[in-house]
Amino acid sequence: MLLGIDISTTAAKALLIDHNGVVITSATMEYPSSSPKPLWSEQNPIDWWKACCTAIQRAMQKGECSAADIDAVGLTGQMHGLVLLDEGGDVLRPAILWNDQRTGRQCKLIEERAGGFDNLIRFTGNAVLPGFTAPKILWVRENEPDVYREIKHIVLPKDYIRYRLTGAFVTDVSDASGTALFDVSHRKFSGELCELLEIPSAWLPECVESAEVSAYISEESARQTGLPPGIPVVGGAGDQAAQAIGCGIVRPGVISVTTGTSGVVFAYVENYTADIKGRLHMFCHAVPDAWHAMGVMLSAGGSFQWFRNTLGTEEIELAKQNNTDPYDILGSKAVSINAGADGLLFLPYLTGERTPHPDPYARGGFIGLTNRHTKAHLIRAVLEGITFGLRDSLELIKDLGVPIEQIRISGGGTRSSLWRQIQADIFGQDVAVVSVPEGAAFGAALLAGVGSRVYTSVEEAVQRTVHITDTIVPDEAAHLQYEKLYPIYQKLYSSNKNIFRQLYEL
Ligand code: XUL
Repeated sequence: MLLGIDISTTAAKALLIDHNGVVITSATMEYPSSSPKPLWSEQNPIDWWKACCTAIQRAMQKGECSAADIDAVGLTGQMHGLVLLDEGGDVLRPAILWNDQRTGRQCKLIEERAGGFDNLIRFTGNAVLPGFTAPKILWVRENEPDVYREIKHIVLPKDYIRYRLTGAFVTDVSDASGTALFDVSHRKFSGELCELLEIPSAWLPECVESAEVSAYISEESARQTGLPPGIPVVGGAGDQAAQAIGCGIVRPGVISVTTGTSGVVFAYVENYTADIKGRLHMFCHAVPDAWHAMGVMLSAGGSFQWFRNTLGTEEIELAKQNNTDPYDILGSKAVSINAGADGLLFLPYLTGERTPHPDPYARGGFIGLTNRHTKAHLIRAVLEGITFGLRDSLELIKDLGVPIEQIRISGGGTRSSLWRQIQADIFGQDVAVVSVPEGAAFGAALLAGVGSRVYTSVEEAVQRTVHITDTIVPDEAAHLQYEKLYPIYQKLYSSNKNIFRQLYEL
């Protein structure tokens, strides 16, 4: 068996699969987040560790598994989080998470110290965003000097778990890419940038490829988790790269679109090319010598969830009575509405946006409402607006010269047949549905299999375990209609950008 561990923003998951990728068992243990001030988002790394130990034990009990049958462990998790440890490896303050927005000022400072935006792209391949790790380090230096003085190790969330499992301070290339300190083109931390920012390189972990063995389960952690001591723990990957492995994104031309709360468009990149405008993330992939370009939309499924919770209370009630899913009921109402919702557009920036508009002040809206529009139109417009937002990232990927031969969709956006069709129609291409039942943990388990030589390569692991379950062909008439609407949708952000800011300031 292979064990994948995911330290997500909401819970620790332990997943056991067999060598054919069949899920044997999984267990999830939640932990809380806190927001001590507006824009802040923190978690206690000790909570991750406790939840991780319990999830591993529960998964083994549930599946009546013998620990001796586990070959290797793969780690994945929320990216970008800052975990600060002292000399003895103790946690110095709560982790500052990927969705924390406190560091706008420090991002500007990093750009200045790097010698401007173009230089930053040269050092790291990416723009620096408030959620990334480096600006959080500068924030702690400015605001919590007592904590800063004690720092001896900086790790990312899943790598804190690696430290507790093995005693080693190691990260992997995909997760390191999101620190804003990593030279993505050369797959190593940028000593030059660290120097300019006066961040000691000695604090940073060693960095390995995702499928490489990083360390081994220690005697002490074996006692706490029930895992056998001495089995290997591979580098693993950030949650998006691991999820993409589970979707089979291991060769040029294959792109994934994954909709959870956020929406992620992920493309395999064979030869490193930075997006000089820094709109897409250009990170190392979990496949050796490969990279990935990624667009992250903050409220994809989140927009539909908002609609369900605010305007779908009737459907929630009905679903309870009939033991069905309120999303299915909402979707079925919108099926009879024309593509384009009779001129109604929805802008999905309900929690600000990252790609293609890195703007925490961006907002959502319905545009084009008339008294002829019904609730069914609103539903259709929401699904279409989210999908136009995903198309924005696809267009940026095309602009980079990355081929798009096959689009694979997974996550919540594949559950409704209407939404699946809207994706094919708006993308103007066949979409293949892949089922990744356990998300990023599945990809992490496959990486563990490569590191422990169950598979000869990441490509072979995917070939043996990842399957397409359906293919949706675009409807020509609907596609043509969307081609007319998309340029109008694209103008909405720039036309309203200043208004969004004014509304925020009010
Ligand atoms: C990726 C990103 C999120 C987090 C949390 O850049 O910010 O995927 O890793 O899921």
